[in-house]
This record gives sequence, structure tokens and C-alpha cells, in this order.
Amino acid sequence: MSAFDLAGRRVLVTGGAQGLGEGMARALGAAGAAVMIADVAKDLGEQTAAGMGARFVALDVTDDAAWEGAVAQTVDELGGLDVVVNNAGLEVTQLLVDTDPDDVRRLLEVNLIGTMLGIKHAFRAMRPGGAAGAGGVVVNVSSVAANIAFPSIGAYSATKAGVDRLTRVAAMESGKLGYGVRVTCVHPGLVPTAMGQKLAVETAGLGLFASPEEAVGAVVELTPSGRLGEVADIADAVVFLASDAARFVNGAGLQVDGGMGM
Ligand SMILES: NC(=O)c1ccc[n+]([C@@H]2O[C@H](COP(=O)([O-])OP(=O)(O)OC[C@H]3O[C@@H](n4cnc5c(N)ncnc54)[C@H](O)[C@@H]3O)[C@@H](O)[C@H]2O)c1
Repeated sequence: MSAFDLAGRRVLVTGGAQGLGEGMARALGAAGAAVMIADVAKDLGEQTAAGMGARFVALDVTDDAAWEGAVAQTVDELGGLDVVVNNAGLEVTQLLVDTDPDDVRRLLEVNLIGTMLGIKHAFRAMRPGGAAGAGGVVVNVSSVAANIAFPSIGAYSATKAGVDRLTRVAAMESGKLGYGVRVTCVHPGLVPTAMGQKLAVETAGLGLFASPEEAVGAVVELTPSGRLGEVADIADAVVFLASDAARFVNGAGLQVDGGMGM
């Protein structure tokens, strides 16, 4: 059996109804894991899960009680829980001069508090004595935006820098308290999912670039690999971090961005 193999692992992916999370769920399943997709988009999530032989649970990651229910359902239906991928996220394109505190609060809620609650409930389930109780892995989804300065994504970048820092503290707490859970994060580069395409359109709309195509061109220009990311680029990195091949990778952020954020 390869160290990258996930046969027998039980995985929960938040925000897995579409985009990067869908790709992660698919790749984790292809590596042998049993997958639970958790998303606030119920119809789409059910459809996506059915299309890949995964299960689905409705979850708003900002809801503490809903997390408890989703993890309990996952442990029950999959027979345990070994990996949680905290992928659900939002992006708001806004110049700092136009800061709307309600938009920022929503970003903080989903990107930061949602990730914290994911860590909380993963730890509670996976640590010794928990409902799953066999240790495991948490993979958080940060962004290249945590490592670079791109105009109009100040609040988003701050939340993703927060996810990066949370990852390190979570790994330390897990280690110190003997939870047996590795915690890492990925920093994806720009991928043209619904979110990625929206960003290109909105930065052009703000007059920062002449067109969405020019915004994409500026990102590619800053990327040594000379292209945008693809969903599979990010999903394969998550499979690696979730697997035993990454058994001594802990508290780390892996940049999967073609070099843009180096
Ligand atoms: N696309 C990119 O270029 C890019 C780059 C770096 C990081 N990221 C990060 O990757 C993650 C996925 O991004 P994407 O491009 O696939 O986005 P997306 O908008 O295409 O998909 C996001 C998914 O998260 C779900 N979601 C949103 N709020 C939720 C909530 N409160 N509870 C549960 N689910 C919720 C949505 O329903 C959707 O299915 C996000 O955290 C994003 O910040 C994306």
C-alpha cells in the first residue's frame, strides 16, 4: 500500500458542493477515502455528493451546534472520522476606502470562525476518548492572498493570514495535549472557480484592471509556473497532506500557487 493511499480513512470536506472543495472530495475519494461533503448549499451539495459516491450533510460552518451534529452524523454514517478539510470560504472584493463592516464581519465569520469551529469539532471527535478517538488530520484552506498584497482583497487576505496562523497554534495545541491530530494548511493560487472568476470580474469593475482578462494576465505574470491553478492542482496537494506520506508535516502551510506567493 502506498503512503499516499487513503483506503479506510473517513473524511469530511466543508464547502464541497462545488469548486475546490468538490475537487478535493473527488480526489480524496479517488485515493480510497470515504467522503462526507458538508455545505450550506443543500441541493447542489446533495447532487455533487451523489455524483461521486459521497455522502452529504447540510452545514453552515459558522454554526457551532450544526458542527456538532454534522460530525456526529459523519462518525455514525462513515464509522469514524480521520480527516477534516476546512475548505468553505467566502471572498469579498472591496477597496479599503470602501470598507463595509458588515461584509468584513461575514468574512470573519465564515473564513475564520468557521475554520476555528472545524478545528474544534475535529479535535473533540478525534482526540483520545472522542467519538472517533483515533487521531487524524485537519487540513485548512488558506490562500496565496495570505502571502502577497493584491489590491481590493484586504479583508479576505486578513482572514486567510488568520487561517495560516490558526493552523500553527492548532498543531501546537494538538501536540501538547496529545490529541494525535496533525494540522496543516494549503495556500492555493488563483483558480477560476466561481470565486476565482468573480474576483477577476470585480477587480476589473473597480477599475484596477482594464478587463477581467487583464486581471488574470496580471496574476499569471506574477506566477513562475506561468498559468492559473487548476482544481486538481490544489486537490492533489490536499490528498498528500491528508495522507501518511505527510506524516511528519505538521503546523505547515503548503503553497500550491505555481510560485506566486514565494
Ligand atoms: N478559487 C480560488 O482562486 C481560491 C484561491 C485561494 C483560496 N481559495 C479558497 O478555497 C476555498 C474554496 O474556494 P472556491 O474557489 O472553491 O469557492 P466557491 O465559491 O466556488 O465554493 C465555495 C463553497 O463553500 C460553500 N460555503 C460558503 N459559505 C459556507 C458556509 N458558511 N458553510 C458551509 N459552506 C459554505 C459554498 O456553498 C460553496 O459550495 C475557499 O476557502 C477560498 O477562500 C480559493
